Order: sequence, then C-alpha cells, then structure tokens
Amino acid sequence: MARTDTTSVALAADDTNDLLRFITCGSVDDGKSTLLGRLLFDAGMVPDDQLAALARDSRRRHADVPDLLDFSLLTDGLDAERQQGITIDVAYRYFHTAHRNFIVADCPGHEQYTRNMATGASNAELALVLVDARKGLLPQTRRHTYICALLGIRQVVLAVNKMDLVGFREDIYQAIATEYRALAKSLGIATVHELPVVALTGENVGRRSACMPWYQGACLLETLESVETMMAEPTDFRMPVQWVSRPDPSFRGYAGTLCGGRVMVGDEIVVQPGMQRARVERIVTADGDLEQAVAGQAVTLTLDREIDVSRGDVIADVACPAPVADQFAAHVLWMGEEALLPNRRYWLKIGTCTVTARVTSIKHKVDVNTQAELAARRLDLNEVGYCNIDLDHAVAFEAYATNHTLGGFILIDRQSHATVACGMLDFALRRAANVHWQHFDLDKAARSLSKGQRSRCLWFTGLSGAGKSTIANLVERRLHALGYHTYMLDGDNLRHGLNKDLGFTSEARVENVRRVAEVAHLMVDAGLIVLVCVISPFRDERRFARDLFTEDEFIEVFVDTSLEDCERRDPKGLYRKARSGAIRNFTGIDSPYEIPERPDLHLLTHGTRAEQLAEQVVDHLLAGAGLQQDG
Ligand code: ADX
Repeated sequence: MARTDTTSVALAADDTNDLLRFITCGSVDDGKSTLLGRLLFDAGMVPDDQLAALARDSRRRHADVPDLLDFSLLTDGLDAERQQGITIDVAYRYFHTAHRNFIVADCPGHEQYTRNMATGASNAELALVLVDARKGLLPQTRRHTYICALLGIRQVVLAVNKMDLVGFREDIYQAIATEYRALAKSLGIATVHELPVVALTGENVGRRSACMPWYQGACLLETLESVETMMAEPTDFRMPVQWVSRPDPSFRGYAGTLCGGRVMVGDEIVVQPGMQRARVERIVTADGDLEQAVAGQAVTLTLDREIDVSRGDVIADVACPAPVADQFAAHVLWMGEEALLPNRRYWLKIGTCTVTARVTSIKHKVDVNTQAELAARRLDLNEVGYCNIDLDHAVAFEAYATNHTLGGFILIDRQSHATVACGMLDFALRRAANVHWQHFDLDKAARSLSKGQRSRCLWFTGLSGAGKSTIANLVERRLHALGYHTYMLDGDNLRHGLNKDLGFTSEARVENVRRVAEVAHLMVDAGLIVLVCVISPFRDERRFARDLFTEDEFIEVFVDTSLEDCERRDPKGLYRKARSGAIRNFTGIDSPYEIPERPDLHLLTHGTRAEQLAEQVVDHLLAGAGLQQDG
C-alpha cells in the first residue's frame, strides 16, 4: 500500500470486494484514536492535504519530537465534540484496501457512552479491542467485550498496544493474551486474533514490525483483510412492512427491507401476526420490477389478493413463519437517566412495529465486569438485566441470535420519547402461547344495563391527606342515595390485603397503581361505578389506568391540596414522621408527585368544604350523558 495511492486512487471502494464491519473498543488513553488514525494512514486513506495539516498540527503539539505524525489528531474530532458537550452517536468511517472494504464504528470509551457502543456493536461482525500493555485488562475491557458478545459479535482482534513502553516483552504480551482468551471464551466469543502493536509508530499496524521478532503473525491490516466475514444472513424470508404504499386506487404495495432469506414472484407468503396468506404478484423497485429479492434489499411487494396488511406487520415465508408471542425473556441494556421500573409501560419498537410493553420482572442483573448474576428490583443507567417482558399485542419475532432485526428491540419512554434501552429477545415465554382469552356471553353492557347505569371509574389522585377519601366517601354516599351501584377502592385499605406486599419505593408504587387499575377495570366490567383513591403519584401509571378504559368511562379527579395544607392538617401524623426521618420515600417530601396535566376535574380544596367539592364531582358525573342507561 504505497502512500502515493492516496490522492488519486482515493476513497472509492471496490464494490466487488467483500465488506467487513467492525467496531473499535478501547478505554480512555489506551491509544484507540492513534491506532485508528494509523490504520487509515497505512491503508492509504489519508489524502495529501489532510496529511500536510496533520504534520502541521503534530509539530504544534509535539514540538519536542520532530517528524512525528500524531494520528490521534486525525480521529480526535469526537473528543472535541465531547468536550463541547455535543451529543455524539457513533462515528462510522469507511476505508478500503486492495482486498476488502471496511466500515468501522468508532465509539467513545467512557462508561456513559455504552449506548453508542451498543449501537455500533449491533451492526458489527468483529470487534477490535485495544489494551494498553502496561495496564492489561481493565474493567472497561471486560465491559466492552461483554456488550460485544451480548450484541452477537463472535470474533475479536485483540491489539495489545504500547508494546514499546514495556520493552517489547513477550511474556507481558502473552499474559494479557491468555487472560483475554479466557474472558472471550467465557462469553461465547469463538475466535480471538491477538497481536502486539505500537500504534504511535505503526509497529505491526500496516506492516510487520522488526522490534518484536518473537511475533511471527500477520500485522493488523493483514489480519483485518483475512479474517472470515461471518455475518451469517438469516435464511428464512422475512420482511417487516415499513409502510403501505397506495399512490392511486389501482396500486397497493407493501414496502420494506428484507431482513432474512429471499422472496420470488409467485411465492406464497403469510402476513404476521394475523396469519393471512397470499402470493407475491410483483416485486417493485425504483429501478423496475424484480423476479426475486434477497436480504438487505428494499422493495415493494404487491400481493394477488386484498388482505389486511399494515405497518409493523411481518411478511414471511408460509412454510416457515416467524414465531408470534406477546411475552418474552430478553436481555435489556438500560440507557435511561431514570431507572427502569418493572411494570411501567414503555413503547417497544421491534422491526417496524411499535407496541406498548412492560418489564414484568427482572430475573437478575449482570455485573458486567465479573458476569455475576445479581438480584435486582430496578436497572440503572448502563446496567444489563435479564427480564421478562409483556407486550399489549402479539408480534412476529425471532431470537436475536437468529435475526438481529426481528430479535432486537428498543424501549422508548412514553413521555420524553427518549430511547431508554436496547434489548435482545431470547425466547417467547410459553405461558403466552398457552393462555387464551375465554369468551363469555354476558358483557359489560348487559351487566350495567341490569343495574340501570353506565359504569364508570372515578380516579381520585393527590397527595396523602389531600382529602381524596373524604370527598370520595361523600360522593359514594350521594350516588348510593340516588340508587347507583358503587364500590370504593382505597389505597390505604388495599394495602392491608391485595397490596400488603408492597411498600413505597417508586417500583412498588408502579405495581400498586397497576393492580388497583386492573381491579377497577374488572369492576367497571362488572357494571359498577368505581371510586378509586390512591395517591398515584406518577403520570405514566395514571395514563396506564386511563388507557384501560373507554374515553368517557374514566374520570380523573385531581384533589389539589397544597403540601403546606396537607402538612398542617396531617390527619395521620405521617408528615411529621416523614420530616423527622422516621418514614422514608414520603410523597411530597422525599418522593415526587407529578401533577396531572389535564385532569377531567380539578378540585381546588383550599377554603372549600368537602361537601361542596363532592357536589362538584356528582354534578360532573350527572352532566352530559350522565349515568343513566337509555331504555
Ligand atoms: S401510592 O403512591 O402507591 O398511590 P397509596 O395511595 O396506595 O400510595 O397509599 C398512600 C397511603 O399510604 C397514604 O395516604 C398514607 O396514609 C400511607 N403511607 C405510608 N407511607 C407512605 C409514604 N412513604 N408515602 C406516601 N404515603 C404513605
């Protein structure tokens, strides 16, 4: 690779050569930028003008070392962005040699950038792991290797860098290589190619080094050129539908990118999860029709009959459809600033499909440095957990090990819309497939008709001592007097029975409110007017409750009493205990209350008697369509 290649032959890759996608992993200061810069230089990818600039910058930074080219300056753009606080994702760099094309995902090494690493690793088939010969394996090395393995990478090149600083000693190199091989093996990484390098001067990077005669193997570039590209494409035909294309009434096509196998005109397919069948009529692309399409191609399929297909469905081979399920075991890598709370609902995006999901239990979290499995109630930033996940709809999926597109997912916070986790599906939980909905002839309408009323859920939310139960009690008495059938679900009372296993941590409150909401839902189904009094401090869970009901069934009543008023009244003496530290996690003191943004009814309690407030609620209930059944 003569340097003169660079300007003219320049940067156009050869399409006929194969492609290796890899990710670089290194801890801070172990020379990753230098190695990557050196690699680009040795591959002849640094044009003359950049090289001149690099020489100039190097002289400025290393006035004491003439003629040194500091290659870290080539790739340090990332660092500059980082220091300015700019959000950075993964920097992808493209380069090529005469034998192969490369895409390298360059990810920052700090722990807080784990999410970027996961993004980079999900598309990579090999990891280039850098270790400083003086330091050996660091916690970050273990962490990066674990995440690479979790995301499906089965091949590593281990570059032991800064060999010059340990006097080129073979024993030091061998000790690091041996320790790393054991780590890789324990994580299921099948192949490790290790080599000693000096990134700064290029020993064993683009050429074999004379400084370490004990090492007879290939240099880094040769290694990268010769490793097997192992990105095994899934073989069964799968295409998640990206959108339904209807440019005019005569054409209806389903657009998407194949994430496995191939499809031909005339093939019989099935649309999942609904399982309707059809045959492929045309395979349409911008460059004309095709006879067949293979994994990686973006196409629009038309079918020989009208069936119901929407975005998020998966079109699959009828002979080997994808499994369909709504409960899974999966690894979750948490990236949210706020912890993952079991039973909170998030959006889960898998393929092109978005559903609502909750983590029902965290079986364990993994100490990424030691791989120990630890008990956990929550996952914090950058933690990995093995979890059960429950979706509100069944989806077509694959194990992540089989198909990254249909087995990989992200979780999205429903309020902030931030991506808070990535996950790898392992398998469907069998109970999902074995539990079915039982149909009954009597339904909510029939049950409420026999009571002569419309069933409702009145949801009172507010601080402890705000007056929820007092007001709800008056409302219930009034409704009862008017002949309505009611029931009261009170947080304090339920905590003596149904919820007596729950405390007051955020996780426990999420579960508490979920259970109360589910019970209220059953009671509304039974035809009752249900009054619920729970602090329900989080918007997300109140929204969960609301979503269980039809629009006019659910009435959120915000009992708005200021913290000062609650504290002054302190009917149960709990605020005093909370202030003295005798009770922890007390709402309004050291646990948050998220104020309702759009309650159906906002009761400002200050200076108003409970009877008047109850009357407001009853008036609201009886207004409009009211509570009476027609007929
Ligand atoms: S919720 O937050 O999970 O919705 P819930 O309404 O069931 O709470 O229970 C709240 C009641 O429990 C309060 O009215 C109070 O009497 C009692 N309580 C005991 N400890 C706490 C605490 N740490 N925070 C809030 N309420 C508490």
